[in-house]
Amino acid sequence: MAKQFENKVVLLTGGAHGIGRATAIRFAEAGASVAVCDVQEDKGQETVSLIEGAGGRGLFVRCDVTSAADCEAAVNETVETFGGIDVLFNNAGITRRADVVKTTEEEWDAVMRVNVKSMFLMSKYAVPQLIKRGGGAIVNTSSGWGIVGGANAVSYCASKGAVMLLTKAMACDHGKDNIRVNCVCPGDTDTPMLRNEARQLGLEEEALVKEGHLRPLGRVGKPEEIADAVLYLASDASSFVSGTSLVVDGGGLAGSQ
Ligand SMILES: NC(=O)c1ccc[n+]([C@@H]2O[C@H](COP(=O)([O-])OP(=O)(O)OC[C@H]3O[C@@H](n4cnc5c(N)ncnc54)[C@H](O)[C@@H]3O)[C@@H](O)[C@H]2O)c1
Repeated sequence: MAKQFENKVVLLTGGAHGIGRATAIRFAEAGASVAVCDVQEDKGQETVSLIEGAGGRGLFVRCDVTSAADCEAAVNETVETFGGIDVLFNNAGITRRADVVKTTEEEWDAVMRVNVKSMFLMSKYAVPQLIKRGGGAIVNTSSGWGIVGGANAVSYCASKGAVMLLTKAMACDHGKDNIRVNCVCPGDTDTPMLRNEARQLGLEEEALVKEGHLRPLGRVGKPEEIADAVLYLASDASSFVSGTSLVVDGGGLAGSQ
């Protein structure tokens, strides 16, 4: 039986670890060729080795998603290597945990560049390639904090809220091109980012992982569980789904306790 993403090409950002790496591996297992874009060369190459170890086809592209030139080059290299692009997963992100007084202008700009401008840039160059293939799917990573606010995360919440509406606006524009655009909104997921956030807040590294017990499902997410939602949004199983956001958070936003 043909695999779900056989003959499909996926370009994803932030694939050196965490949710991006788990999703790259899931797409490869489902038959896709995967271009892994990241600034971290060693870890990105490691993701490609894991893809190849699982019998898949991978390509590492060193790409700073805040650079227009890098995004354009990443799209071109993916097309030259694999012949086109069917799925774009805009996933790279950073977080700076501070309130509006303590956030520096540099931190604000960095978060908006990596979390939002990157999606504009990568989509700008990738969408014409999706159109050449007769359509495709774009999945953007937002967050539960793109829907509700959270303490000490002003730049992050602002950036993820922007991703939600960027997604809807792109869905309005590109439905006619047979391109569906959706976002995934993870809740706390056990990745290097979550541990980094704990350090930024002056907490022990495991602190936010342990807070998972407060969620209805009693734990934080695994990167693979977010990956499964991304594959759904990129697949024909969601063929009439566009401009929406899929919350994957163990029930974290379901209600107040
Ligand atoms: N982990 C969570 O709890 C959580 C919750 C909600 C949303 N998210 C979102 O999920 C996405 C993935 O996060 P993660 O938890 O896997 O984090 P992570 O830190 O494990 O991975 C982020 C990746 O983005 C890459 N990256 C950062 N800046 C880049 C740049 N300028 N150019 C290219 N790549 C860059 C990093 O090198 C890294 O590989 C992010 O958008 C994040 O905001 C994560």
